[in-house]
Amino acid sequence: MCGIVGYIGKNPAVPVLLNGLKKLEYRGYDSAGVAVIDGGKLVLNRSVGKLHMLEGKINGYVHNGTIGIGHTRWATHGRPSDNNSHPHTDCTGKIAAVHNGIIENYLELKEWLEKEGHVFSSETDTEVLPHLVEQFYQGDLFEAVKQMTAKLRGSYATVVLAEDNPDTLVAARKDNPLIVGIGDGEYFFASDIPAVISYTRKIIVLEDGEIAVLTREGVTIYQDGRQVEKEIQTITWDTKAAEKGGYPHFMIKEICEQPRALRDTLSGRIAPDYSGVDLKEFNLTTEDVKKFRKVAIVACGTAYHAGIVGKYAMEKMLRLPVEVDIASEFRYRDPLIDSDTLVVIISQSGETADTLAALRLAKEKDARVVAITNVVGSSIAREADHVIYTWAGPEIAVASTKAYITQLIGIYLLTLFLGKHLGTIKPDEVSQILHYIYRLPNQAQEVLDTLNEQLDRMATVFKKWEDTFFVGRGLDYAVAMEGSLKLKEISYVHAEAYAAGELKHGTLALIVKDVPVLALCTQDDVFEKTVSNIKEIKAREAHVIGVAFQGNKEIHKVVDEVVYIPETLPLLAPVLTVIPLQMLAYYAAAHRNCDVDQPRNLAKSVTVE
Ligand code: G6P
Repeated sequence: MCGIVGYIGKNPAVPVLLNGLKKLEYRGYDSAGVAVIDGGKLVLNRSVGKLHMLEGKINGYVHNGTIGIGHTRWATHGRPSDNNSHPHTDCTGKIAAVHNGIIENYLELKEWLEKEGHVFSSETDTEVLPHLVEQFYQGDLFEAVKQMTAKLRGSYATVVLAEDNPDTLVAARKDNPLIVGIGDGEYFFASDIPAVISYTRKIIVLEDGEIAVLTREGVTIYQDGRQVEKEIQTITWDTKAAEKGGYPHFMIKEICEQPRALRDTLSGRIAPDYSGVDLKEFNLTTEDVKKFRKVAIVACGTAYHAGIVGKYAMEKMLRLPVEVDIASEFRYRDPLIDSDTLVVIISQSGETADTLAALRLAKEKDARVVAITNVVGSSIAREADHVIYTWAGPEIAVASTKAYITQLIGIYLLTLFLGKHLGTIKPDEVSQILHYIYRLPNQAQEVLDTLNEQLDRMATVFKKWEDTFFVGRGLDYAVAMEGSLKLKEISYVHAEAYAAGELKHGTLALIVKDVPVLALCTQDDVFEKTVSNIKEIKAREAHVIGVAFQGNKEIHKVVDEVVYIPETLPLLAPVLTVIPLQMLAYYAAAHRNCDVDQPRNLAKSVTVE
């Protein structure tokens, strides 16, 4: 997602900032900006579009200022525009801030600041930051930033620059990355190491709750108002590896970013007392919701697999019929939809040609369209009646991982929202589900931390075979489909997903000695049925790997090996079970020396039919 660079030193800041921002381009962005103090004045340049558009704007001005901040913005609150680009300034135009993350209570803060006389000029959550600093500023920038952070809920990495303090930059972070680069008489802030690596290899990683002050003399870091000593790390990676944050591929980096993606997507959307979901952007009334007679979910690829999870979850909780369709099928089958149908369009990019055409068809037929998408201002986001954004951040690897997992969250939130209006989910059930949803980011982290080695080793079994199988029932079957797609698209190992009960109607003929079968077993109500199917598979001497909750005491008796995931509600299991499947596919592809991030014949965004 967005990129931050800050600089203080002996050289003109603008080229350093632009160079740093270029190194962060891989994070994805739709506008950019810089602010420097030049000739004693804070000078701001911002532009929608790529960095060359910003450079075009700056062109002609020779900025000699040696302190500044820069930002590439990936739109969340407010469309991509010059005005919504960072840095944002206070009322006087003397204080500027850049920010990554989401300020959850920005509306509340904005209202308060407006009452205090502040005037806002953008649609962003970020703009509250410079105004808060202005509100608290009494000559000490560090103190003002400290007071600002005390007011914030949500996530942030932010760097603040003030005209009255031409020798100081102050930064703070919570749940968003920020590093300090230590050069020779020059210092940097950046969202990631590539931005500074051509200037210095010495860095400090800031932790949550820390505030860092850069001056021309050095860096001082505070936690809870007290100065802290931090370790200086020396980066040994080459520049190319640095763009991937030290990971060998974007896909594994994105897999590892999933806890953060989940946290961001949930940010501000669970009521503090867990009584319901808060979809601010969503203006469906109870009357609207009660009109719906059915739901039609439409998507392609991985997003379609998220839709299948949606079908199981929604039918169970809403007691409404839910159809799920591949967009290229939906658009040509003259679907039975009308104004009483809720059409849910799922798309990471918001630009997939078939999905967009399906959305347009749904609108022609007067259906109400909700989009779940990752890209603000995309065609699908613009044309849908309502949008639930997934805050996964830009996904670069062709194989979708963090987008899928956040699409699942979008589906759960939508289901809870609809269920509450329809009265099909009781308040205590809503609260219980939300408590479990809230735990998912940490549990996803636990999966990543504990299963890495096991999956790397298991991948060596899968990589040797030409045919592999993924089975499960109910929601496990939905995840089996996504797991098999992951494996085949990046490792080119053929993988079939089967509803476990359907195996014996044909596919069992392909189950032979040692063939790898991955069996998902998280759905309590069909556990025994799945075990019977596993026994049928084991009777043919296949190598079966089970995926089950940590508390499951039975599964190890029937399979060759178990991948244990943390306990959650069976309804939410897909969020956790898909992670080991992604890792398995990743390691199988890496062991086969495949081009993991750009598999043959495939594209990230399919804008043709
Ligand atoms: C392509 C991508 C997939 C993605 C699908 C749908 O096939 O490679 O990762 O799931 O398109 O894309 P969308 O952007 O609509 O989710």
